[in-house]
Amino acid sequence: MGERFPQRKAPMTKTISKYVCQSCAYESPRWIGKCPNCGTWNSFVEEVSSKSAARKLPHSTKLKGVPLEEIELRDDHRTTTNITEFDRVLGGGIVDGSVILIGGDPGVGKSTLMMQIASHLNGKIILYVSGEESARQIKVRAERLKFPNIKSFLVLAETNLDLIIDVIERTPPDILIVDSIQTMFRPQLESSAGSVGQVRECTGLFTRIAKEKSIPVFLIGHVTKDGVIAGPKVIEHVVDTVLQFEGERHYAYRILRVLKNRFGSTNEIGVFEMRENGLEEVKNPSEVFLSERSLGAAGSTVVASIEGTRPILIEVQALVTPTNYGIPQRNTTGLDYRRLSLLLAVLEKRVGMQLGQQDVFVNIAGGITIDEPAVDLGIASSIISSMRDIPVDTQTVAVGEIGLGGEVRTVSNVEKRVQEAAKLGFQRIVIPKNNFKEFARFKDIEIIGVERIDEAIKILIS
Ligand code: TYD
Ligand code: MG
Repeated sequence: MGERFPQRKAPMTKTISKYVCQSCAYESPRWIGKCPNCGTWNSFVEEVSSKSAARKLPHSTKLKGVPLEEIELRDDHRTTTNITEFDRVLGGGIVDGSVILIGGDPGVGKSTLMMQIASHLNGKIILYVSGEESARQIKVRAERLKFPNIKSFLVLAETNLDLIIDVIERTPPDILIVDSIQTMFRPQLESSAGSVGQVRECTGLFTRIAKEKSIPVFLIGHVTKDGVIAGPKVIEHVVDTVLQFEGERHYAYRILRVLKNRFGSTNEIGVFEMRENGLEEVKNPSEVFLSERSLGAAGSTVVASIEGTRPILIEVQALVTPTNYGIPQRNTTGLDYRRLSLLLAVLEKRVGMQLGQQDVFVNIAGGITIDEPAVDLGIASSIISSMRDIPVDTQTVAVGEIGLGGEVRTVSNVEKRVQEAAKLGFQRIVIPKNNFKEFARFKDIEIIGVERIDEAIKILIS
């Protein structure tokens, strides 16, 4: 970070910007398409620089290294929001001085989420810096959310970072929310808001504010596909925590996922539902995800997946139909496409399925994404069920990773999965044989250990 703020104490007038090649660090006063030094295209990003200040080395500062034994350990102070789904995702609340990036597609509900979190932080002074919406629009959303009329929620509709910092210096808030980082700009840089240079520079400054003043800073970032606006990716390494808010446009469910967390685990998720009056926590996702299950239809299996520390039961649907045009289609929603290809190859080779002339569609119901191998068995059973047009037993849950040899492999956290299945009233659960040993007695549900995929299929589809 250091070299990016060489002008820290220098007067603003001396500050100019420069363009730096991200590949070889070649500097140019102007933007150029191709680096004359290393030949890379489109690698120049604008940065703030001050020629005079950058060259000088400070003579004597009091700075020195600290021996490890003199460094004091104290727990990070955390603020809890009482939105359990959110606190859990952060690893137990908001850490003071941390910078949290919330990325997500436009319209997924990032602003709504942040306002609802703010509304739970009663007594804290919150500065909501908005470059997306006017103060009036924010008020309209607040009305919709039945936002309690707290005096400590301050709205600042501004995008010039120098002016924003002035406000923060004069009246430091307890929590800062920036909506969105891509609308912020520093006048010292000539590139426009949303460019890689601006987004980085602004994030750097917000990070400094967070650390110096020990206030948590939330940065909202749009995930963009067109590349005109720099995506949150360019700043992920700078911030402490990266959250991703995801959801399919046509579903009300929203998942808050942790991609990076210096202060907690990275595999937690929080589940929310977008309602007419804001986001509602989903405390028991399994019930919700299974509520629309079509009982008795072929091609549907209930699987027990672990998301973070929590088991979630979810329906895996498959549709297998004869191919119309030469090349068979394979399509997935909420699941890695390569995983499906691999499973199809195993089914052909080890179970003797003829899938060469069949289109295969696999879908994780509810609009959520799962990337856990333990759902393999469920995917396989849905495919076979659809192909044979025989339903999977509706009272049985399937758990297991499938190996290339057709073996059903051990999975983690079986106990949690079994408990969740029992809790939701399922009668049986099929698990890997090697996991079975862990369950000598478990009365609420019948547990069946299987070694091979064909063995499992006989139990699931009969
Ligand atoms: P918003 O928070 O503005 O999304 P983002 O900041 O990620 O762009 O919310 C977008 C959508 O959420 C919008 O289409 C309307 C819907 N919505 C509700 O369904 N209920 C609500 O209470 C609110 C505030 C928004
Ligand atoms: Mg928004």
